[in-house]
Amino acid sequence: QAQSERESLLIALGFARDFFVKNLNTPEGKSIGLSYFKERGFSPAIIEKFDLGFALDGWDNLLNAAKKAGFSEEILLKAGLVLQKEGDPSRIYDRFRNRAIFTIHNISGKPIAFGARILTKDKNQPKYINSPETPVYHKSDVLYGMFQAKKAIRDLDNCYLVEGYTDVVSMHLSGIENVVASSGTSLTEGQIKLIKRFTDQVTVLYDGDAAGIKASLRGIDLLLEGGLNVKAVVFPEGEDPDSYSRKVGTEAFQTYLKEQSKDFIGFKIGLFKGEFSRDPIRKAEVIREVILSIGKIPDPIVRSVYAKEAGVLLDVDEEIIHAELNKSLLKSQ
Ligand code: UTP
Ligand code: MN
Ligand code: MN
Ligand code: MN
Ligand code: MN
Repeated sequence: QAQSERESLLIALGFARDFFVKNLNTPEGKSIGLSYFKERGFSPAIIEKFDLGFALDGWDNLLNAAKKAGFSEEILLKAGLVLQKEGDPSRIYDRFRNRAIFTIHNISGKPIAFGARILTKDKNQPKYINSPETPVYHKSDVLYGMFQAKKAIRDLDNCYLVEGYTDVVSMHLSGIENVVASSGTSLTEGQIKLIKRFTDQVTVLYDGDAAGIKASLRGIDLLLEGGLNVKAVVFPEGEDPDSYSRKVGTEAFQTYLKEQSKDFIGFKIGLFKGEFSRDPIRKAEVIREVILSIGKIPDPIVRSVYAKEAGVLLDVDEEIIHAELNKSLLKSQ
């Protein structure tokens, strides 16, 4: 019986995963790849759990091994593992070269894509090179780490949402397994639907930089629209969950998460804290910001609970909040 294209792609991607993983045991892989992961504090067990690997330097290491194993160039191309040479599409070469490999799995644990991190400080190359969209990898429907996290997310009824591959791996090392990454791209409805299969509670842990805060604000509104209960934690400037947990240690990191988790209202107020205490115009802006987010919540009862909380926290008459809320709800209809 002929294999479907999907099956062939998954087999090729499985072969690539095995290849990248085995590369870690070659002399080059040990001295470059494995030592990189070790420097980051990744244990052998975590390397295995996440199928971390190494792409050797060179243009055709994977290509040749895969062809020898019987995979066609067409399948390798469709799987996003190789690229066509510009100006000479009959010639193809490895997409991932001399990089640390993060395997991206589907919900049942099959490799569907890869993220590959540069190992030098070369600013002229992208930090990560990722698989393209393929018939088995729709980026907007995938969250990195979901296969390893889904049980813990269901058991703990909460999902931590981080930006990066390394944040997911690092949090597992800290004993926190209910964590997935949006992988730097902005959160999508498909990803929110995926989370909702396992829990209704999300805690956003984006990087403590301008881009991370901006992405948090956007992500929070989208999660609220999806009917989820949203909390967020702000990290000190320049820190992300990986760097911060390594800086302060596992225990202090866990305490930080517990103590700094705020609902979206507290999160928004916290961002502007100090700024608005003596400035009525600034304060009005914050109030409007908070009301905009409350307006995203589909359930009117939940909405009114948050309106009450916002009234208390911002020291504004609840009636005013409701009036503004009605205005913004009318606008969005
Ligand atoms: P970050 O720049 O925060 O990287 O991007 P990081 O995850 O903290 O990685 P380290 O600690 O420097 O190694 C967050 C995520 O955005 C995606 C990746 O998924 C990354 O994990 N990203 C980032 C890319 O896809 N390409 C890039 O060039 C950069
Ligand atoms: Mn798609
Ligand atoms: Mn970042
Ligand atoms: Mn980061
Ligand atoms: Mn990082």
